Amino acid sequence: MQKITETRAPFLVGLIESWDDEENIFYVMRLYPQTLRDRMSCRPRMTRCQTRYHIAEMVIALHWLHTNGIVHRDIKPENILMTPRGHLVIGDYGLSRMVPDGTPVSEWRIERECAGSPGYSAPEVISSPYTYGIMADVYSLGLVSAEMASRRITPYFVCRTASEQLAMMKKQYRDGEFIPDNGLQIEDEHEKDLVLKTLKWDPSQRPTTAELKVHPYFDGIDWAMLNLRRYQVDVVPTTVKLSEEYPSYDFFTFKQGKDKTAYYGEDVEYDKHRHILPNNAVKAQLGEDRAKQVEYRYLCPAPLRHDDLHGHCTLDPPSPAGCP
Ligand SMILES: Nc1ncnc2c1ncn2[C@@H]1O[C@H](COP(=O)(O)OP(=O)(O)O)[C@@H](O)[C@H]1O
Ligand SMILES: [Mg+2]
Repeated sequence: MQKITETRAPFLVGLIESWDDEENIFYVMRLYPQTLRDRMSCRPRMTRCQTRYHIAEMVIALHWLHTNGIVHRDIKPENILMTPRGHLVIGDYGLSRMVPDGTPVSEWRIERECAGSPGYSAPEVISSPYTYGIMADVYSLGLVSAEMASRRITPYFVCRTASEQLAMMKKQYRDGEFIPDNGLQIEDEHEKDLVLKTLKWDPSQRPTTAELKVHPYFDGIDWAMLNLRRYQVDVVPTTVKLSEEYPSYDFFTFKQGKDKTAYYGEDVEYDKHRHILPNNAVKAQLGEDRAKQVEYRYLCPAPLRHDDLHGHCTLDPPSPAGCP
């Protein structure tokens, strides 16, 4: 988390602040209005062009993690968040592992440890001898991409346990190749090719994130532009989950995590105009005195906002081949 925060990787959730008391650890992070799961199930559905940008953003994020020696181990739509401008960021490093110093990332293996989320794990993670490396993340990315590309709103493998997933998976493979059933219809040939390659049973046959970047599916994408978030990728999510648990305030909401993690509202695209809510829930967690020490700033009206880190989003993006 520290490494991710220090380098300000644009497609990863970073920490704003953290502290602890005797019982809790508090993490302050940007508040994102939607997860990718929410986005996938709301209308308007993603266009093919948006899907392609989103998959490209996931590839950049994963490439950053892998080249920095981090295996995420829990890539799934619930752990991918969306900024108000519709860009993707990967979060939830609860299961992530760092490659030990001096070990080449591509050679490092985690042994005898089955971890992840049923429905999104790679075969080597959930089958004996439970030995895997960074390619397990590529597999999970493949499953998320498959869902996006085929416009599904439910996981491809709907299951509650790893063994259920493994049993479902075994029926979908022939000679190590993923043979999609009717639930996975991907029209675009390149899109399908990318998905099938990432879903190879044998991890050594899957493409690395560097290889994915040069796959023909991404032809025409300017990765430097994408990295700077210059592309207008998606509609701005306008639906913010509201419930008694998440009191709403302006565009942002405060969420008190189950595990007493504190999330604060912030204009996520504009670091300068942070907005931390003077919310009773915050006070209850931090104590009145601690809450007072937190700086409260208010959102700047939209036309006055500037974004030093990412520049202005191009509203009229250059259209790579195949996009309207
Ligand atoms: N920074 C954030 N902004 C908005 N929602 C968040 C944020 N971080 C997490 N969430 C929401 O909380 C859920 C759980 O958080 P997560 O970090 O994935 O922890 P875990 O899955 O280990 O409980 C996420 O799926 C997402 O819906
Ligand atoms: Mg999670």
